[in-house]
Amino acid sequence: MKIAMVGSGYVGLVSGACFADFGHDVVCIDKDQSKIDALHAGVMPIYEPGLDALVESNVRAGRLSFTTDLAAGIAGAAAIFIAVGTPSRRGDGHADLSFVHAVAKEVGEHLANDAVIVTKSTVPVGTGDEVERIIAASGTAHRFAVVSNPEFLREGAAIGDFKRPDRIVIGAEDEFGREIMREVYRPLFLNESPILFTSRRSSELIKYAANAFLATKITFINEMADLCEKVGADVQDVSRGIGMDGRIGSKFLHAGPGYGGSCFPKDTLALLKTAEDYDSPVRIVEAVVKTNDSRKRAMGRKVIEALGGSDAARGRKVALLGLTFKPNTDDMRDSPAIAIAQTLADAGVSVAAYDPEGMEQARPIMPEVAMCDSPYAAIEGADAIAIVTEWDAFRALDLGRVKELAKAPVLVDLRNIYQPDDVRAAGFTYHSIGRA
Ligand code: UDX
Repeated sequence: MKIAMVGSGYVGLVSGACFADFGHDVVCIDKDQSKIDALHAGVMPIYEPGLDALVESNVRAGRLSFTTDLAAGIAGAAAIFIAVGTPSRRGDGHADLSFVHAVAKEVGEHLANDAVIVTKSTVPVGTGDEVERIIAASGTAHRFAVVSNPEFLREGAAIGDFKRPDRIVIGAEDEFGREIMREVYRPLFLNESPILFTSRRSSELIKYAANAFLATKITFINEMADLCEKVGADVQDVSRGIGMDGRIGSKFLHAGPGYGGSCFPKDTLALLKTAEDYDSPVRIVEAVVKTNDSRKRAMGRKVIEALGGSDAARGRKVALLGLTFKPNTDDMRDSPAIAIAQTLADAGVSVAAYDPEGMEQARPIMPEVAMCDSPYAAIEGADAIAIVTEWDAFRALDLGRVKELAKAPVLVDLRNIYQPDDVRAAGFTYHSIGRA
C-alpha cells in the first residue's frame, strides 16, 4: 500500500519510517527544503534513538522516500496522513490549526485518486469535520474519507511505542475509512495490538483525555511528594503502594520537577480551551496546569533553600545536570530546567550546566547559563549540584570526584535517582523529592 505522510517532524518521520518498516511504500513530505535535503543525506532533524538506522534501512530497501512536492508525494497513496504541528496559538492557548487546514486545502486540490485522509496531528474535537469540509470545497471528484488516528508515542521511546502500542485508536465515519485503516495497520494486528474503532469526535477527544489524565497522575504524585516531605513519609513507597492497585496502575507516578515536553503542556491548555468553548469546565485539568506551572519555579527555590536561602545563595554557583524535559531526547520545550535556571539567575546565582543532547537547543533559550562539556566541568567550583533530568549518565557519577571538584558537597536530586543513604555515606548533604 502506498502511504503519504505530510509533515516530517517528530510524529510524521517516526510514523513514516515505521510504516515503511512494516512493508508499506511511504513518501514523507515536508515544505522545509533543508529538512528534506538533510533526510536525503541521512541526517535526522531530531534526536531519537534508533531512528537513523530505521530510516537508512528502509530508504535502502526502496520503501521510504522524501520530497517537498506534495502533489507528486500523494499521487497514488491510499492513505494520506496529516502529521504537521498544532502548536499553542500565541495569546490564547487554542491549538493553532493553520498548518492542518493549509495541508487539507492542498491535498484537496491535488487529490488524484480515491484516498483516506488521516489526521495524526493532535487536533481539537471537530477538526476532522473541518478538514472534510475543506477537501470537499476543493471540488475533488475522487472518493475520500477523513479519519482520526491519534499517535501516543513518547519521545525517546518512539519507535518501540509505535511498533508495540498499547492500543490503536481509529475514529472513522464510514466503512471506506475503516477498511483502508485496517489495511494500514494490518501488520500490527498480527502483533495483536488492540484496536479501537470509534467515531471521529471520540477519537479526537481520546488523545487529549489521555494526555490530560497522565499529566494529572504526575501532578497528583508531585503534590503527594510535597506532603511526604512535610509529614515524614517516602513518596517512592507511597507511589509503589498505590500503584500496586490495578485500578491505579504504577506508571506515571514518578515524582519530579513537573512535566514538560511538546505534548502535555500544550494539549492540557488546548483541552481547557475546548472545555471553555463548550461551556463544560474540566476543573481538575485547570488545577493540574496551574500546579505544574508553579512547581517548576518552586524547584528553583528548592535549590536556593539547599544553598541556605536567598541571602546565602546570592553570588553562589549551581551546576545543573540535565536540561531536556526528559532523557533520550534533545527537546527543550517547556523543560523544567528553563524555569529553574531562571529562578536561580533571578536570585543572583550563577548557573553552569551539562546535558548529553540538549545543549545546542538550550543555548538560545537559556543565555544566562554557562554550558559545559561534561558533568564534571559543570560541577567544578559549584556550591550545589542539581539533577534536573534523569539521564543514565548521571546515575553513576563518580561521587568521590564530584566531591573533590565541587566547592560544597550539596546534591539536590530532583528525579530521585540516588539512594539517600549512599549519597550521605559519600559525604554529601542530600535533598530529593518527597523523601523526608
Ligand atoms: C507524552 C505522552 O506520554 C505520549 O503518549 C504522547 O503521545 C505525547 O506526550 P512525551 O512528551 O514524549 O510523551 O513524554 P513522557 O515520557 O510522557 O513524559 C512527559 C513529561 O512527564 C516529562 O517531563 C517527564 O519527565 C514527566 N513525567 C513522566 C514525570 O514527571 N513523572 C512520570 O512518572 C512520568
